Amino acid sequence: MADIPAYRRIADEIGKLILEGHIADGARLPAVRELAMQRGTSVTTAVEVLRLLERRDLVEARPRVGYFARRPRPGVPEPAMSRPRMQARQVRVSDVVAQMFSADGDDASRPVPLGAALPGPELLHSAALQRATARWTRRSPRLLTGYGLLDGSPRLRRRLAARYLRCATPLDVPELLITNGCMEAINLALRAVCRPRDGVIVESPCYFGFLQVLEALGLKACEVPTHPRTGLSVAAVERLLSAANGRGIRACIVSPTNSNPSGATMSDADKAALVALCRRHGVALIEDDLYGELQFSGARPLPLRHFDTHGEVMLCGSFSKTLAPGARVGWIAAGRHAAEVRRLKFAVSVTTAPLLQEAIADLLEGGAYDRHLRRLRAECERQLRQVTQWVIEAFPVGTRVMQPQGGFLLWVQLPGAADAMALYRGAADEGIEFAPGPLFGSGFADCLRINCGQRPTRRIEDAIRRLGVLAAELATDLAPRAA
Ligand SMILES: Cc1ncc(COP(=O)(O)O)c(C=O)c1O
Repeated sequence: MADIPAYRRIADEIGKLILEGHIADGARLPAVRELAMQRGTSVTTAVEVLRLLERRDLVEARPRVGYFARRPRPGVPEPAMSRPRMQARQVRVSDVVAQMFSADGDDASRPVPLGAALPGPELLHSAALQRATARWTRRSPRLLTGYGLLDGSPRLRRRLAARYLRCATPLDVPELLITNGCMEAINLALRAVCRPRDGVIVESPCYFGFLQVLEALGLKACEVPTHPRTGLSVAAVERLLSAANGRGIRACIVSPTNSNPSGATMSDADKAALVALCRRHGVALIEDDLYGELQFSGARPLPLRHFDTHGEVMLCGSFSKTLAPGARVGWIAAGRHAAEVRRLKFAVSVTTAPLLQEAIADLLEGGAYDRHLRRLRAECERQLRQVTQWVIEAFPVGTRVMQPQGGFLLWVQLPGAADAMALYRGAADEGIEFAPGPLFGSGFADCLRINCGQRPTRRIEDAIRRLGVLAAELATDLAPRAA
């Protein structure tokens, strides 16, 4: 297992103490030298620890005064750790998912799009991709008249490997295969390691697409307690795998960074521990890194794969949330399962359409993608904060809201015995769409996911305020903050 640098490990530990309230909000932290002495480390490392905590917004540096603990936005309570039964079970995903992807027509006649997890078209700044696509269509008509290569564009695969190297995660180009989006990557990974009726660990809540793939492949989902800020509970995974009901578990799918729907990010220590644990128990680890590049500030969080030196973690991703969902270009670095994944790829979809792979490789090569990402992250953060503010103002007192550090999804828990499906139906009648909690696992009847990727216009604001009123009406003992 790769070592976690000392500064990250110490920052993780101190951060946890702050977030869990063991270090009070506003409390003074040790000065640099004192911290170095306490932790038996160098002054340089202590400085790095404090800088990292500052970037994570958990510490405030007051020049010439010192460092102070800061809990994120006190006053807005966050949803609690989930408590699923940890029993592998067959799943059936609601038809609501299909509805969210079926609305057609012009923008004004479509429901207010707070449902599907999508950045708005203006955030995707697609002119550069359009130009590159036109260029490749002219330059290389074979990209349309041929199938392309089974593994995908060699240039794109080399570019992807180079990107992961930047976050200290070496991938071998031969193990990388281009897929039709991240969903195909997950699908291939599961097929490579599971047989029907095997159990698969998922976060609770988790992306409903995972549950759909499990359903389609005849696999069972085993939901494990997950904190909406710190992600999958590694302690719970350990308990499960050591117990009798962990015996049929073959794989674990996890989205460790800015997870969908809660926005949770696992600490480096938890990521390393999960990799080691799965290896010890022979459980295949499938990583969904879709939101890894959408961290608002600080270093890009490390993928699980960083902590894996045995090629055990199957790393999946795509450009769907950062560049072009319609391009359907994703990837899988399947490590020691690469040969099996390659064999399955042909059976599932033969190849991935080659034209857009070349166009995307151009953007990666020229630096346009990095410039675009910087803008996209800033816009996502601004939009997310704006919508959060409207939710806080408009939803009933006692509503809990997550404040993720990346992505564009807002996970909201309503107070009392709220019924998110009833709210969904009421809102749909008024042309407002969101993703109700029960799509994301068992329970979550009182939760909803709001997509903040759309530009926060007056129409979006009105829809959020209306949702707040409807939520309060459904729970008659609650009152909205603003009607
Ligand atoms: C966590 C997660 N994984 C996978 C997907 C699907 O990705 P793609 O469109 O690349 O297939 C989504 C889409 O919302 C997602 O949120």
